Amino acid sequence: MKKYLKNRRLSVSLADLRLANPTILASGILGYSAETLKSIVEGGAGAVLTKSVGLKPRVGYANPTIAQTSCGLINAMGLPNPGIDEFVKEIREAKTGLNVPLIVSIYGFSAEEYATVARKAVDAGADAVELNVSCPHVRETGSEVGQNPKILAEVVGKVKAAVDKPVIVKLSPNVTSIVEIAEAAVKAGADAITAINTVKAMAIDTETTMPILSNKIGGLSGPAIKPIAVRCVYEIYEHVKVPIIGCGGIVNWRDAVEFLLAGASAVQIGTAVAQKGPNVFRAVTRGINVYLKRKGFESVNKIVGLSHRS
Ligand code: DHB
Repeated sequence: MKKYLKNRRLSVSLADLRLANPTILASGILGYSAETLKSIVEGGAGAVLTKSVGLKPRVGYANPTIAQTSCGLINAMGLPNPGIDEFVKEIREAKTGLNVPLIVSIYGFSAEEYATVARKAVDAGADAVELNVSCPHVRETGSEVGQNPKILAEVVGKVKAAVDKPVIVKLSPNVTSIVEIAEAAVKAGADAITAINTVKAMAIDTETTMPILSNKIGGLSGPAIKPIAVRCVYEIYEHVKVPIIGCGGIVNWRDAVEFLLAGASAVQIGTAVAQKGPNVFRAVTRGINVYLKRKGFESVNKIVGLSHRS
């Protein structure tokens, strides 16, 4: 193992998970193969997250599913996935020899479905589950769950009762009050909150005069959403006690440090992995380490929420 991966300054514990550094692969960036997850670990990630998986296989939307804009990517894949019964094989394979926590992102069309998928993922070896209650455009799941505190509480409650591993809830910014939603998730038993998922968005082709994505509407990711995500983390930190995982537009160490100062205990990197490759984790981690040393902090935990002091 590389020296900095054993660096105590960088290690974090997050709802029972031990991470050698605070960088995590965001859900949805890579496919489902055990091999690609391992390449992310080689790139220096402190934990990995799979694409979202549901109870049954789904083909997803027709192409185009990605629109590149001047300030970020808009995607609407439609939750394509092989279904949990097929995916457990990849979970088992990914777990063999993996020296970082494996978190499985799950979705469902009912609280029972979320719970069933979570149980199967944990039985196959997942170290935690992240509930996707924030996909901005697939009907009857995703943000339709995460925009309604009552439905969200039912989903979180059923999943908590079904598994004995940490349950992380990934929230949507497409709500009036993300604090109200975070509070509902925590009250129902969420062990950690991820903030944020993509921002509902669209792009239109001026030549064809039509929406670019086959689904018309998708989710915006990348640096454009970082200030929105930092605000969400900051607001949630003031109201809930569970750890927060920051996500949205992180490209370099400075972005990551900004999220930590806002109140995140760890960060997820997504769009930048697609653009820069797996070594972005190592670059961000090294940068955080140099920053902590320069500022005289003996642990990354010391800067979590530091921007809140009066
Ligand atoms: C998809 C997009 C998202 O932003 C998300 O959170 C989940 C799924 C998708 O299109 O598959």
